[in-house]
Amino acid sequence: MDRTVAIDVSRLCKTYDTHKAVDDLSFQVYAGEIFGLLGPNGAGKSTTLRTLITLLHPTSGTATIMGYDSVREADKVRTVIGYVPQERAIDRFLTGREHLQLLGALYHLSKEEATKRIRELLTLVELEAHADRPAKTYSGGMKRKLDIACGLLPDPKILFLDEPTLGLDVQSRLRIWEYVRMLKARGMTVVMTTNYLDEADQLCDRLAIIDGGKIKTMGSPVELKIALGGDIVSLTLKELDRIPALETELKRQPAITSVRTTTKGLDIRVESPEKALPTILESANRLNCSVEFIQYNRPRLDDVFIAHTGRAITESIPEAESA
Ligand SMILES: Nc1ncnc2c1ncn2[C@@H]1O[C@H](COP(=O)(O)OP(=O)(O)OP(=O)(O)O)[C@@H](O)[C@H]1O
Ligand SMILES: [Mg+2]
Repeated sequence: MDRTVAIDVSRLCKTYDTHKAVDDLSFQVYAGEIFGLLGPNGAGKSTTLRTLITLLHPTSGTATIMGYDSVREADKVRTVIGYVPQERAIDRFLTGREHLQLLGALYHLSKEEATKRIRELLTLVELEAHADRPAKTYSGGMKRKLDIACGLLPDPKILFLDEPTLGLDVQSRLRIWEYVRMLKARGMTVVMTTNYLDEADQLCDRLAIIDGGKIKTMGSPVELKIALGGDIVSLTLKELDRIPALETELKRQPAITSVRTTTKGLDIRVESPEKALPTILESANRLNCSVEFIQYNRPRLDDVFIAHTGRAITESIPEAESA
């Protein structure tokens, strides 16, 4: 794996009035990887991205992109990046091709160069057949494909994608994941935000979980799951009043890492299910706890998220004091 640093973020802060949207972020993105910022609404993902692409000035801290400082060398940064914003900027009357042509002029591409690249990009995102009708008639997935083609037009070294599949149907999401993987295979570095756990899990080589403007944890999806310390055995018990006794008993067992009460029973974290399962069933038997259902799970990214933020990603955030 190439460990060349493509992006270096150090102690980045961004305050809007008095609200700290981004609070002391430090991370690095390696060349050629897909790096994700995963977090709930309002976590500070878009703000971080906008700072990296030079649209926002940090309140403090620094970001360098391919060695260029995002503030002092913003012009240089802009020559190596492409950006797909969260809110789509599709005009109501222009066709897909006209959108790309307009951007080509903005980037000062020659007519031949632009025509060639636009044709390639329309093929890449499978919009050739629809390129000459107004983009307002596109489906959500087609609009997003056009957004991505727009982000790719300058032939960037690093592509920034803000919520690439927000609100799309399953099919369109899978197509977009395919494009992102293809771009990586061609050597592009991709930085994306998402609040979809499955997207972060399946697409990102490494990710930072961010909440309230802070990084809660960082690593590859597999590392993050392993770091939770083992697999989970979930017990559903017939008599809920037996839960505390069994919990106390299991907490004493060396084969068991931790025990947590749920609404229906217990979630038991274990290093090795082969060793722990007999202990669990034997303890339940001895304490006359009838087990109604037993389930065994590898930790998922949901579990990682809950462990580091104290809640599920879909639960609403405690409302921050408004600025
Ligand atoms: N221009 C602005 N002025 C004031 N506050 C802002 C501005 N932009 C964002 N914020 C606030 O900063 C915080 C972070 O916003 P940001 O858009 O970065 O979050 P996000 O993680 O991208 O959320 P989402 O998942 O909803 O896109 C939020 O509390 C938001 O209300
Ligand atoms: Mg956002």
